Amino acid sequence: NARRFFVGGNWKMNYSQAILEKVNDALGKTKDAEADIVCAPPALFIKDFVSSKPSHVQVAAQNCYHAKEGAFTGEISPEMLKEAGCTWVILGHSERRTLFNEDDEFLKKKIDYVLNKTDINVIACIGETLQERESGKTNEVVERQVKAYQEKIANNQYDRIVIAYEPVWAIGTGKVATPQQAQEVHDHLRKFIEKNTNGDIAKKVRIIYGGSVTGASCKELAQQADIDGFLVGGASLKPEFEQICKARQ
Ligand code: G3H
Repeated sequence: NARRFFVGGNWKMNYSQAILEKVNDALGKTKDAEADIVCAPPALFIKDFVSSKPSHVQVAAQNCYHAKEGAFTGEISPEMLKEAGCTWVILGHSERRTLFNEDDEFLKKKIDYVLNKTDINVIACIGETLQERESGKTNEVVERQVKAYQEKIANNQYDRIVIAYEPVWAIGTGKVATPQQAQEVHDHLRKFIEKNTNGDIAKKVRIIYGGSVTGASCKELAQQADIDGFLVGGASLKPEFEQICKARQ
């Protein structure tokens, strides 16, 4: 399988010395062979994580701006993140979209900059709200979001991106999508990506699931044909993150 299992841990705005130690403890029991494991601490603590994590674990930022430097108060550039030790950045998380008004147009600028001006890889997030799902718009919404990213991704850049499908109604709610619900959207997305690129790219691009993934729910999700890993929030700060990293074993 060309699609190596991928597990992202999004710490969101959570950090303490105790969390750092607990996560490093869980990560210490994982191996490179199990998955690409990528953790995203709050930006201020990236360096603390970089200097304490096991060497096979990679580091992501939770967001970035689309310029190298300048008068952008409060923002951080991909170049700075790279300097701090990041090789990945999460873009378009639903919390950025809903709480901070990041829309597809803004995200296009970010993914364009990261892919074309740096060598940082991108975890590109998408996902429908409960209202959108209930009104039968799931496919339409995720297609629109993926299409926006795709406008800026050249065919030879798909190995630098991972698509994270995160239904908004499943994030932080304890209401995980069923393996069938997730697989259905992942399968649809892969076909949609194929339509806009080609079969080879669609076969190789990784599509991961996020939304209330736990040690208990990860195994069955990981067995689905088009689920290539996870983006984990809450459980990425707990000992069970080890089991999630090993979900494919
Ligand atoms: O980026 C991670 C997702 O928002 C999932 O968060 O696992 O706490 O539901 P959660």
